[in-house]
Amino acid sequence: MMKKCCIILSVLIGFITLSFTTQQQDVKASIQRGKKVYEKACLACHQKDGEGVPRMNPPLIKTMQVLGNKEKLIRIVLQGFNEEVEINGEYFDNPMPAQPQLSNQEIADVLTYVRNSFGNKATAVTLADVKMVRSKIK
Ligand code: HEC
Repeated sequence: MMKKCCIILSVLIGFITLSFTTQQQDVKASIQRGKKVYEKACLACHQKDGEGVPRMNPPLIKTMQVLGNKEKLIRIVLQGFNEEVEINGEYFDNPMPAQPQLSNQEIADVLTYVRNSFGNKATAVTLADVKMVRSKIK
């Protein structure tokens, strides 16, 4: 006969597995939505596979900005970016326009997509992350 604690334990494990799977599905859905946002808001400059355009638009492949600090990355989209960046020995100094008209969800999705495409692998950017950064700006 199963002891009470074993039943409680299996139910608990069930819940944990379920919430983990749900989280993974949420990230998957965000990546799918993010691809659409990328196509309308980033692709023209950073290109289909994130390879960018030599001397004009930097690649989004395993760069410090893409894989690093999420707040900085969110700020690049919300506030634009105008610093000379060096990526693999190439310098880029065209300014990137801000896109504050994108919704918090669109920004979370597009950045989660970028962080998990083009050979990148990094944690998701959540709606809460973007909300927090936008509230600091306005
Ligand atoms: C009009 C062209 C243009 C568009 C549209 C654009 N970018 Fe950029 N992006 C640039 C340029 C140019 C730079 C380099 C800016 C600099 O050197 O200061 C840059 C830099 C970046 C960087 C930091 C450097 C790197 O390569 O990692 C990230 C991340 C980035 N863009 C992401 C995005 C995302 C995500 C979108 C869509 C929401 C987007 N960009 C839309 C032109 C663009």
